Amino acid sequence: MSTISQSVGKITTHILQRMKNNQEKITMLTAYDYSTARLLEMAGVEVILVGDSAANVMAGFKTTLPITLDQMIYHASSVVRAVERALVVVDLPFGTYQGNSKEALCSAIRIMKESGADAVKLEGGKEIVESIDRILTAGIPVMGHLGLTPQSINKFGTYAVRAIEKEEADRLVKDALLLEKTGCFGIVLEKIPANLAAKVAQTVNIPIIGIGAGGEVDGQVLVFHDMMGITQQFSPRFLRRYHNLTQEITSAIEQYIKDVKSLDFPNKKEQY
Ligand code: KIV
Repeated sequence: MSTISQSVGKITTHILQRMKNNQEKITMLTAYDYSTARLLEMAGVEVILVGDSAANVMAGFKTTLPITLDQMIYHASSVVRAVERALVVVDLPFGTYQGNSKEALCSAIRIMKESGADAVKLEGGKEIVESIDRILTAGIPVMGHLGLTPQSINKFGTYAVRAIEKEEADRLVKDALLLEKTGCFGIVLEKIPANLAAKVAQTVNIPIIGIGAGGEVDGQVLVFHDMMGITQQFSPRFLRRYHNLTQEITSAIEQYIKDVKSLDFPNKKEQY
């Protein structure tokens, strides 16, 4: 029997809702460039996130804060050119939506117009709900992001698990309900206790996508470079590595260096 995901063409926010209703898990991975997005598309992932983690993974910054709207649009448009089926969601970067709702709307419109993406993602709850509302009014689908929100790292002071204390956990549940009521089509929950994430997924009707939030949510997201073992420094408990590409790529490069230096490459068949 084919799943909803297999039986539809273009993935839309409505398809994700149907998947949640049918208890079919949603898969989401990051991509910041055309070639990676093509691989994710070929493999059949439902949602591609052009995350502001590009600041860490692509540019080597310590936090996600420095990436600009222009840079996000560059990454997003590269991804969109590779994708026909997956839903492409783009992070609004730090400083482009927290100031006021008009600024938030202008930033979201630039992403949609200049990249051709399908939706935007914003970090936060009650404090940004006016911005979310204004973006939604313009017809732009919005995904929320609660729990460990990396754009607030300077407030948190640590990347440790969030919402362990009752007060923060209660606030998170309220924020999730508010995001649903405002009209978000889904929420990412990052690095919170699994039982709290499960409670949110049962309490709200929109899809909940977890990263470090346990298995009792509606889908999972990982950073592609982390799950493929390209990034090495980052090893949280929730990260399952599906490959050790660092080792494979460096040994291929070492072989290339040997071949060039020993005059093995190029051989007669590899020249004109
Ligand atoms: O920027 C990102 O990659 C993200 C994921 C970690 C969810 O927001």
